[in-house]
Amino acid sequence: MASITFLILAIILSFKTLGATSRGGLFEASAVTEKHEQWMARYHRVYSDESEKTKRFEIFKKNLEFVEKHNMNTNNTYKLGVNQFSDLTNEEFRARYMGQVVPEDMLRISSSNSDTKVSFRYENVSDIGESKNWVQEGAVTSVKNQGGCGVCWAFAAVAAVEGIKKISTGKLISLSEQQLVDCSRTPNLGCKGWTASKAFDFIIRNKGITSAANYPYRESYQTCSSNKPVAATISGYEGVPKDDETALLKAVSKQPVSVAIDGYAPEFIKYGGGILSGPCGTSLNHAVTIVGYGVSEEGIKYWLLKNSWGQDWGEGGYMRIKRDVQTPGGMCGLASLANYPLA
Ligand SMILES: *[C@@H]1O[C@H](CO)[C@@H](O)[C@H](O)[C@H]1NC(C)=O
Ligand SMILES: *[C@@H]1O[C@H](CO)[C@@H](O)[C@H](O)[C@H]1NC(C)=O
Repeated sequence: MASITFLILAIILSFKTLGATSRGGLFEASAVTEKHEQWMARYHRVYSDESEKTKRFEIFKKNLEFVEKHNMNTNNTYKLGVNQFSDLTNEEFRARYMGQVVPEDMLRISSSNSDTKVSFRYENVSDIGESKNWVQEGAVTSVKNQGGCGVCWAFAAVAAVEGIKKISTGKLISLSEQQLVDCSRTPNLGCKGWTASKAFDFIIRNKGITSAANYPYRESYQTCSSNKPVAATISGYEGVPKDDETALLKAVSKQPVSVAIDGYAPEFIKYGGGILSGPCGTSLNHAVTIVGYGVSEEGIKYWLLKNSWGQDWGEGGYMRIKRDVQTPGGMCGLASLANYPLA
C-alpha cells in the first residue's frame, strides 16, 4: 500500500517537473504573447481576424524588442516604454499622428537674421531661476489625448492659451481644441496638420475660444458649432527669436510656449521617461507646449514638454528633453518655431 502511494506520488511529481521544464523552454515566445494579450486588454484593442492579430503581434514584438534593447543600455539618459502605439509601425504612427505643417515663409519671418523686426517682449528678462514648472504652479490642465487625428497644433496652442489665461487671471480652464479643428479653417482640412500660430490667429479673429466642457473633443472634424460662450481671449501672439534656446528660456520663465518639434524618431514615439537626448532630426512635424525647465540630479539641463498623446506616453504624458545642446535649433528642432499668446 505504502509503495503504491509512493509510486503515484512519484508519477505526479515527475509530471509536474516535466510541465515546468516545457513551460521554461517556451518561456520567451509565450511571454511576448502574454504581454501582447495584456496590452490588448489594457488598450481595448480588438483585431478583425487572426491574420490581423498575427500581423499586429509581430509589430508589437519588434517594438518590444526595440524598447528592451534600449533600456538594457545603461548609458542612455532615458527609457523607452510600451504605450498605446505599440502595435503600430513607426510609419503607421507618423501617418496617423504627426500634424505639424510649417509654411516656408513662416520660418523666414521668425528668423533672427531676417529683415523683419519681430518684437520679443522678453528679450531683457534676467531674473531666471534654475527651474520653472508651470504644472506645479497650476497653469497647466491635465494631459489630453488627440487620438487618431493629426491636430497636435490645436493642443499645442490651447495649452499655451490655458497657461496665459491662468497667469493673467488666476483661472485655469480647459479650453476647446475641437472649436479650433471645426471653426478655424476649411472643412476639407479635417484632421490634417497646421501650426499653433494659425490657431492663435483664429482665436484673435473669433474674439476668444470656448471651454472644452462647452465644446468637447471628438477626434475628428465636425461641423463648426457657433455661438459658444467665450472662456478665454488673447490680444495677440509673438514669436521667440529662432534657434535661440536662451531666448526660449526667457519666454518659458514667463509663460508656457507652443513649439514645433521633430517627433519622428522611434525614440520619441516610444519615449518612456528620463531626459531625451536624441537621436532625432530637426524637421518640424509635430507640435507640443513647453511648460517648464530644470536641471536633473545628474546635472543634465532639460525642457519640460506637454504632449497630446495621453498620460501613458512618457512621464505621465510629459517629456523631459535635453536643453542647451550644440544643434542650433535645439534638441529635435524645438527652438526653431516657438510662439506664445498674449493676455
Ligand atoms: C557606454 O559608454 C561607454 C563610454 O562612452 C562605451 O565605451 C560603451 O561602449 C557604451 N556601452 C554601450 C552598451 O553602448
Ligand atoms: C531691452 O533693452 C534695450 C536696451 O536698454 C532696449 O533698447 C529694448 O527696447 C529693450 N527691449 C524690450 C522688449 O523692452
